Amino acid sequence: MARTTVPDLQRLKAENHKIVMITAYDATMARLVDAAGVDMVLVGDSLGMVVQGREDTLGVTLEDVAYHGRCVARGLKRAHLTLDMPFMSFQVSAQEALRNAGRLVQEGCAQSVKLEGGERSAEAIRAIVEAGIPVVGHVGLTPQSVHALGGFRVQGRSQEAAERIVRDAHAVEESGAFCIVLEAVPEDVAARITEELAIPTIGIGAGVACDGQVLVCYDLLGFDLSFQPRFVKRYAEMESAVVEAVRAYAAEVRSGAFPTADHAFQRHQAPAVLKRVY
Ligand code: KIV
Repeated sequence: MARTTVPDLQRLKAENHKIVMITAYDATMARLVDAAGVDMVLVGDSLGMVVQGREDTLGVTLEDVAYHGRCVARGLKRAHLTLDMPFMSFQVSAQEALRNAGRLVQEGCAQSVKLEGGERSAEAIRAIVEAGIPVVGHVGLTPQSVHALGGFRVQGRSQEAAERIVRDAHAVEESGAFCIVLEAVPEDVAARITEELAIPTIGIGAGVACDGQVLVCYDLLGFDLSFQPRFVKRYAEMESAVVEAVRAYAAEVRSGAFPTADHAFQRHQAPAVLKRVY
């Protein structure tokens, strides 16, 4: 089965199909979300929080993203793989941004890279695109600027702030990005950007008008039931499912109910296949 390409994704917008993006950070989750038929998988720098347990994304390195990119790529058959450019991998200069985007392709199996910022990232986006690496932009709430923004907050509430985000989105498109993530912006701002841009918009906390949607896999699967932001819809409650399952396992190991003879190997039986297949 062929992997989804940039022209495939552009065709989805042209044919009025919504683009489905989800994050994943390992081969097992990648295999499952790919089997569910998503269009794009993002190895987001959100891995700093949901995998590494940090408070924000700022400590994530290029090596971290490349490592998780390789893991995820092994689980994918069809979905397009986008890797996030982490903090300080693209801000210093366009040359450094290009070199690091190239590393994510060569070392992380990226089919495209995502980077935060509008006008301020335009030069970096242009350099990467000119080298033949597709770029996904990201404006609105840009978590790598958490300290400047004063926290993880909805952006573009005032008219002036909204106009700035619209300008940023245009700068991303004019620099050659093939699609753009709009994070935590009011619905009317996202609708205006979606209307004005030719490239697909992928929303997260950006309302219903976007051309697609992205969510962190653990959020929509309910791995942390204490995290309930308005923009997340939970399709499962994995936190309680996992805790209950592991509690049952622990109880059975302690009581001697597991393992039984059914789970043991006998010398006279045919050789068992123990290999996992991704
Ligand atoms: O890092 C990430 O997972 C992201 C998405 C939430 C868009 O940037």
